[in-house]
Amino acid sequence: MSIIDEFFEKTKYAHLSESAQRKGVPIPPLELPVPENAKTIPLPTPSSLNMPAMDVRTVMEQRSSLRKYTQSELTLEEFSYLLWITQGIKSITDRPVTFRNVPSAGSRHPFETYFLANRVGTLEPGLYRYSALEHCIYPHNMEVGINEKLTTACKEQSHIRTSAATFFWVAVIERTAWRYSERAARYVLLDAGHVCQNLYLAGESIQCGVCAIAAYDDDLLNDALGVNGKDKMVVYAATIGKR
Ligand SMILES: Cc1cc2nc3c(=O)[nH]c(=O)nc-3n(C[C@H](O)[C@H](O)[C@H](O)COP(=O)(O)O)c2cc1C
Repeated sequence: MSIIDEFFEKTKYAHLSESAQRKGVPIPPLELPVPENAKTIPLPTPSSLNMPAMDVRTVMEQRSSLRKYTQSELTLEEFSYLLWITQGIKSITDRPVTFRNVPSAGSRHPFETYFLANRVGTLEPGLYRYSALEHCIYPHNMEVGINEKLTTACKEQSHIRTSAATFFWVAVIERTAWRYSERAARYVLLDAGHVCQNLYLAGESIQCGVCAIAAYDDDLLNDALGVNGKDKMVVYAATIGKR
């Protein structure tokens, strides 16, 4: 059996192990904790963002992948909007479960957003993380050369180096597997597609181009992001910059 056949076979309902939820394991946290010493940077609140409206048909018909960007920066308002549109939390239930601007299987929302900022408002260039719960960002790795490290990990795709910013979506598998056990392997990848498509469409409406990225060296990229590649791993990335 090929790996592809095996993947689809073994993630059929007939083969799934009993889920952690069924076993009574408590629901996993909604988000990885913000480190205590993190220098958090507040973002303009979603309700304060005044972004241009564009009709759905136009934005979808105009969308195409862009790999060459102008030197213009994204403002912090625009960046706040992109984070909000891709992972922002609209509401939280008592359980707790989040509802966001993207759909997610069982509303499990397994992602943590990391981003390389090259030209975003007054942000010092470096690798940051987004807290959707707090709608804030904080530096994660500001070492000189992090841009090159991430570009190399993505097989030298130069549009990372030259992007205004590059998003990296890390899946915390436990959040989805808690309910769906092995079938989570399908769902986190499907979820990621919705996130990136929202970035494409929102980017288009603010004169930005986006390019999805799935060609990367898993081990190098997980290492550069500081995740273990086992229960937390990068599943998708995307560059963005002004047209
Ligand atoms: C799952 C996925 C992975 C992709 N990975 C890459 C990538 O690593 N590098 C890249 O330059 N483009 C990548 N792309 C962009 C595609 O090449 C692009 O969508 C395709 O050529 C169609 O062009 P369009 O988006 O302009 O319609 C990816 C797109 C998808 C959906």
